[in-house]
Amino acid sequence: MLKQEPGDGEATLADPHFRADVLNGIAARPRAIPARWFYDRRGSELFEAITALPEYYPTRTEAELLGTICPELDVAPGAAVVEFGSGSSAKTPILLRCIDPAAYVPIDISGDFLRQSARDLADAFPDVQVLPLEADFLRPVPLPNQVADLPKLGFFPGSTIGNMDAYQAVDLLRAMRTWLGDGAKLLIGMDRVKSPDILVPAYDDAQGVTAAFNLNLLERINRELGGTIPVDAFHHRAIWNDSASRIEMHLEATRDIAFEVEGRPFAMRAGETIHTENSHKYGERGARLMLRAGGWTPVREWSDSQGWFSLILAEAQPLARGP
Ligand code: TRP
Repeated sequence: MLKQEPGDGEATLADPHFRADVLNGIAARPRAIPARWFYDRRGSELFEAITALPEYYPTRTEAELLGTICPELDVAPGAAVVEFGSGSSAKTPILLRCIDPAAYVPIDISGDFLRQSARDLADAFPDVQVLPLEADFLRPVPLPNQVADLPKLGFFPGSTIGNMDAYQAVDLLRAMRTWLGDGAKLLIGMDRVKSPDILVPAYDDAQGVTAAFNLNLLERINRELGGTIPVDAFHHRAIWNDSASRIEMHLEATRDIAFEVEGRPFAMRAGETIHTENSHKYGERGARLMLRAGGWTPVREWSDSQGWFSLILAEAQPLARGP
């Protein structure tokens, strides 16, 4: 995310990674832009609003489940909790209150957001050492020395793992295993496969907040990369892709259009889309298999009464060869 959020009309140096991802992404077939670029300030605010929508069940369901099962986690006091993609750390107090750790390490790429929520948590939990790490957790993250000798609990809520495809997800799980070490535990939230009648509205709500979130990416391109994209010619689409077991978000052109980004010409026909996000959903066995592929042994799992969302506790057991 950009450190500076220039106002309208303010000249700015575009982030070269954003520029490259957008230009390459719109030129590619199928067109796709990495989801990390959603989260400028407006995008982060819209995302917080999504988590409170009546149709968006995951946040609410997971938070309630976490409160119920937390005493059963059986993590001894004095551990280090390491949270990946902590964002506003909204669910963290529930966890910290019940396991009483010595240290909390939130990791996020959005530095401002991270430091603010780290301060709030440090105030609320004076006995916990809060050690924020501004980093992209898709690259190796060195953990602070202070937690080297503490037992570790990784916390990866929100079904964020679902925003990666299986190949990236397994890479990340393996990286987490290496960082946290043998004997570490991981508490991970995973959204479950369910009827598209529930899934699709969660990503295409009646108030249009998710649509605004998706379309904000085009506004951001226009603002930061001198784009001339006619945003009103795009429509937010959420599709259930059954064979890939995921919700896909797209931006669909509703008429033939031509536009420029950083002086480069692009054209799209009515009905063509830019793919902006995936949210994979898992069955029980699929979830466990993916954790094992990443080097984590599932030890317990919990779900809400409707079976909509799962929290799984896994352990980095020493790797033993099977038959
Ligand atoms: N990981 C969550 C999910 O897939 C949150 C999320 C990420 C999200 N990107 C999103 C929610 C885009 C709505 C739209 O549900």
